[in-house]
Amino acid sequence: MPNPKIAGTSPIRVELEAGKTYAYCTCGESDNQPFCNGAHKGTEFVPKVFVAEESKTVGMCTCKQTGNPGFCDGSHKAL
Ligand code: FES
Repeated sequence: MPNPKIAGTSPIRVELEAGKTYAYCTCGESDNQPFCNGAHKGTEFVPKVFVAEESKTVGMCTCKQTGNPGFCDGSHKAL
């Protein structure tokens, strides 16, 4: 698996809605960060699809280095 593109160097705050399905961009190519816009087509990457368990504001990863895909774990600080 190639390295994903670093789409940003800080997390994006997103208000998730309980029960809603989201597709997190894992390749870094989407211009609708942190979400997939289909730009991964032709690469080995696929989006991480998840359903929000609760409505809350989260910091979503844009650097794509997180160990918890979708969510910022502070890894951008090491870039
Ligand atoms: S655009 Fe990056 S995973 Fe779809």
